[in-house]
Amino acid sequence: MRAFNHVCPLAWAALMVGLMTAMGDATATASPGIFEVDALFPRNETYTPQALMPIVFALQNPALASPLVASMSWELWEGNNYTSPGSVTDGGFEFATLDFSSNDPFLVTRIVNTLAYPDGFWTLSWSLEIYNCSQSEHSTQSITVSNATVFTISRSGRAPDLVAATSADMCGTADGYAFNVTSFGDTCGVLGSSPTTNSCAATIDPAAASSIYAAATASACSPLYRPQNPNITCPTSTSKSSASSADAAGRSRMAAASTLFTLLATLTALIHLG
Ligand SMILES: *[C@@H]1O[C@H](CO)[C@@H](O)[C@H](O)[C@H]1NC(C)=O
Ligand SMILES: *[C@@H]1O[C@H](CO)[C@@H](O)[C@H](O)[C@H]1NC(C)=O
Ligand SMILES: *[C@@H]1O[C@H](CO)[C@@H](O)[C@H](O)[C@H]1NC(C)=O
Ligand SMILES: *[C@@H]1O[C@H](CO)[C@@H](O)[C@H](O)[C@H]1NC(C)=O
Ligand SMILES: *[C@@H]1O[C@H](CO)[C@@H](O)[C@H](O)[C@H]1NC(C)=O
Ligand SMILES: *[C@@H]1O[C@H](CO)[C@@H](O)[C@H](O)[C@H]1NC(C)=O
Repeated sequence: MRAFNHVCPLAWAALMVGLMTAMGDATATASPGIFEVDALFPRNETYTPQALMPIVFALQNPALASPLVASMSWELWEGNNYTSPGSVTDGGFEFATLDFSSNDPFLVTRIVNTLAYPDGFWTLSWSLEIYNCSQSEHSTQSITVSNATVFTISRSGRAPDLVAATSADMCGTADGYAFNVTSFGDTCGVLGSSPTTNSCAATIDPAAASSIYAAATASACSPLYRPQNPNITCPTSTSKSSASSADAAGRSRMAAASTLFTLLATLTALIHLG
């Protein structure tokens, strides 16, 4: 874990996913349709160093994640150095039991700290695993697809802009994979041939972007993670209400962040009480 000291909310994120999984609705029903995963952020661009650098994936038709038993793994490293500060070599998402409610697309976010390397390139490598059921043979087949994004951190770069990354002129360049779930087998979805992706259907609006940052800031400012994040400006108790209203505004598009935010507030309260 030594190498992850500078990755602020990583352990937090893992903890939150655990909580969300426990709260997930395993009985959610799904209809046949297209399941798609898009890598929305970062992109092949140059960004200024950030204490809270977002990584954002979108799931389209997220209710299909469960019948496809979808999961993702990801790794992030600076330059060619897998052990550089900020590297993450065991990132992952389990989608199968998450409660996606009515959020489509569903944004999945992680935050990393790039301040320790103000000039350099980073690689975000990710892979998605799903299962394809054969109707005729009652068998399942695992399918894994992978991709990577190389981005640059430089003091002369631009600030990350989640909204611009999914704007009309940028959205078509996102890497993604789509699967056509045509019916449901004994234990998973039956896939037809893979359609072309439609990454422009997955956008991050300003309210969703605010929610992502509000949740990230709240986690980094929690008593548990504050010592690793001295550079982050934390809300005072009076400005907490504005974070909550930004959170409320983004609720329709960003259940993940708002759920995390709420859970975090609960956790923080528990820590204070304890
Ligand atoms: C990334 O962007 C640079 C500069 O615009 C371009 O030369 C390069 O081909 C791009 N790489 C990929 C993988 O798209
Ligand atoms: C990789 O990062 C670690 C941690 O900062 C450092 O000790 C090591 O020298 C780096 N290796 C290279 C090849 O830069
Ligand atoms: C805080 O910021 C400074 C420069 O802005 C940087 O050198 C330092 O590594 C940062 N500390 C952490 C823990 O991110
Ligand atoms: C899923 O399996 C079926 C056979 O059961 C096959 O025809 C189809 O091409 C597979 N789909 C994908 C995306 O691999
Ligand atoms: C990543 O996705 C792009 C399309 O967005 C594709 O051209 C490229 O081959 C993919 N890379 C890998 C390693 O599959
Ligand atoms: C998905 O599969 C269904 C059933 O085979 C087909 O009718 C539909 O056109 C396919 N959709 C796409 C986008 O390929």
